[in-house]
Amino acid sequence: MKTFENYSLLNNNTFGIDVKANYFIEYDSVEELQQLLRSDLLMESKFLHIGGGSNLLFINNYEGVILHSNIKGIDAIEGSRSVVVLKVGAGEKWDGFVEYCVSKHYGGVENLSGIPGEVGATPVQNIGAYGAEAANSIVAVECVNVKTGEEHVFTAKECRFGYRDSIFKREYKGKYIVTYVHFKLCKTGWTPNVNYGSLKEEFAKYPDASMSDVRSAVLAIRGRKLPEPKVLGNAGSFFMNPVISVEHYNKLKESFPDIPCYVLSDKEVKVPAGWLIEQCGWKGKSVGNVAVHGSQALVLINKGGANGLDIINLSDSIRASIREKFNIDLTPEVNIIFG
Ligand code: EPU
Repeated sequence: MKTFENYSLLNNNTFGIDVKANYFIEYDSVEELQQLLRSDLLMESKFLHIGGGSNLLFINNYEGVILHSNIKGIDAIEGSRSVVVLKVGAGEKWDGFVEYCVSKHYGGVENLSGIPGEVGATPVQNIGAYGAEAANSIVAVECVNVKTGEEHVFTAKECRFGYRDSIFKREYKGKYIVTYVHFKLCKTGWTPNVNYGSLKEEFAKYPDASMSDVRSAVLAIRGRKLPEPKVLGNAGSFFMNPVISVEHYNKLKESFPDIPCYVLSDKEVKVPAGWLIEQCGWKGKSVGNVAVHGSQALVLINKGGANGLDIINLSDSIRASIREKFNIDLTPEVNIIFG
């Protein structure tokens, strides 16, 4: 276990916001986590558990303890000729895990290549991209109860996964810490999942795509659309794609005939927030040292030296214009920490 006092979080958030925490503690095992939860420091201070910091926006210094998992390991715990279940430590890098699966020809997570962050965060917001989401492969989530220190295993069903959503963002927010995630992957019978728009175009010419072809294509598409956090601070999509009623959508279509949507049911559709933001003229626009990314309007960027409030002010201006033009409220996907 490592403990740091008066710790700069600059390298622990992909937005590149320079704030400090009173303490930063990294633990290596479930036992160390349990010991920490019983410690005087944690009993007396507020704390926040982070992963790779790729979905966080700090507004102020954090007057408490930041916890980080260094629980590692990728172990096969079940298997047959056709499937394998891997138990993966929360502190493993997500994309390192995806790379491992592709190298072993274990199929199911290759469309989620290149997503920053760590395995422990993946069930919390059910990461998703290019027609796949973590929930498609997760079979169980091992946690520690923050209050009692007891271990608990949630089945995928109990996690109540939804679009960028799970029970860990709702009823169990702050109540459990993820220690291991179990993923079920296929060893035989894999077929590429390339129906998503930009992947479909990429593979129209190569119908016999291999798993590593899919990974390469996803990495290439991401590279074209999404800024590299080490170069331009960002947290991927800043907003969720809003869900609106079909009635509202049809009304908007009268004024905006090109408005795209993904049909969710006969009552609701999801509208790409990037499209809405672009229609309001924000794409590529800078305000001081923050900006809306020029290749994907859903991404807000720190051009260097921005603080959390600069980003929030830009987000508020964008939300106001979307409300005015489309009567839609955008919800940030990023977790905003006021400190
Ligand atoms: N669009 C625009 N202008 C833009 C961006 C998007 O008009 O600047 C429209 C286009 O019509 C495009 C559609 O939006 O066809 C969808 O765009 P894209 O395929 O880039 O996906 P998205 O809905 O904007 C979601 C996820 C991304 C994920 C991509 C690919 C959310 C909030 N975001 O974005 O996730 O990579 O799909 O599957 O659901 C993240 O969560 O950090 C993230 C990057």
